[in-house]
Amino acid sequence: MTQNKTILRALRGETLPTPPIWMMRQAGRYLPEYKATRAQAGDFLSLCYNPDLAAEVTLQPIRRYGFDAAILFADILLIPQALGADLWFVTGEGPRLSTITTADDFDRLKPVDDIHDTLRPIYETVQILSRELPDETTLIGFAGAPWTVATYMIAGQGTPDQGPAHLLKAENRPVFEGIIHRITEATIEYLSMQIQAGAEVVKIFDSWAGSLAGDDFTEFSIHPMQRITKAIKDRHPGTPVIVFPRGADHKFAGVHQATGADCVAVDDGVDAAWAAEHVQTDGCVQGNLASSHMVTGGQALVDETLRIRESFAKGPHIFNLGHGITPDADPENVQLMIDTVRS
Ligand code: CP3
Repeated sequence: MTQNKTILRALRGETLPTPPIWMMRQAGRYLPEYKATRAQAGDFLSLCYNPDLAAEVTLQPIRRYGFDAAILFADILLIPQALGADLWFVTGEGPRLSTITTADDFDRLKPVDDIHDTLRPIYETVQILSRELPDETTLIGFAGAPWTVATYMIAGQGTPDQGPAHLLKAENRPVFEGIIHRITEATIEYLSMQIQAGAEVVKIFDSWAGSLAGDDFTEFSIHPMQRITKAIKDRHPGTPVIVFPRGADHKFAGVHQATGADCVAVDDGVDAAWAAEHVQTDGCVQGNLASSHMVTGGQALVDETLRIRESFAKGPHIFNLGHGITPDADPENVQLMIDTVRS
């Protein structure tokens, strides 16, 4: 393992003259080569569970753009599936799962020790990638944060306001807390296996952290991510952890200390200059170009990319989008962003 990889240096707190760069959802439907491999696999989940094809789509954006990191191709909803939930994707709509709303539903979930039966192909994908990635490219593993994964397990689909999860939290606290705990413990085992297979960094996606208000944010976003980060660091000293409590707004300040993570990913809901002053002072920051620039391009993309790079220039920074790239993005705009960051 090359400790000199730019992403690992930034994660250790080094300020680099040019920030390393990768992009959330960098393997995705905006790329024709992704669509071709996905068609070959049949559907999205078959692609996730086919190690050769999942490794292939992970490598595609590395070959095309030379990003500094590759992120394992998989999905945060594989954990619910490994715990026994039914999972399928409806084209044009998104994920669907069997729901958990009662103690009986919860009791039917599998124990944490059983998840590897389902997730074994994912570890194989990581092994292939750690052999095949260029020496300078960092391999990032990931999982969803317990709150975000729970919102899908409870509602059975994506929800605009995470209403069903908030309702269960209010009406059946023991079941809600049981779900959070089960996902937390499963995530520790899952990430630990990814690291053993060759992941050099892990990222925890809390995409719906923004809907947790007041003490709930601390209890159900921060605490589970802290528990996972600590367990990973106990078992794999030196493996950096990135946390992404999307939508945390001013509460991004303090997340490094509260979770013990090496890096906090910020979305474009906060200004880069604000994040430099209030978040980057505690450690590495990742972000935060609005993904809409990958659709619109032009001078606005260049100006905003330069502004973000300048705002974070005095501390450790990994350049990224504020959220995943969308299917309607133009691949040429991705190249323009990279050229601008590296200019
Ligand atoms: O970033 C990467 O490239 C790594 C792979 C990755 C995917 N999903 C692939 C994917 C990662 C890290 C995720 C995370 C994920 N998945 C999150 C958290 C991050 C975020 O975006 O907020 C969430 C909430 C999910 C759940 C999920 N998976 C949804 C809601 C959808 C449907 C989206 C849609 O537009 O259909 C997915 C599917 C999915 N996951 C796709 C990809 C490339 C598109 C699937 C396809 O090819 O049809």
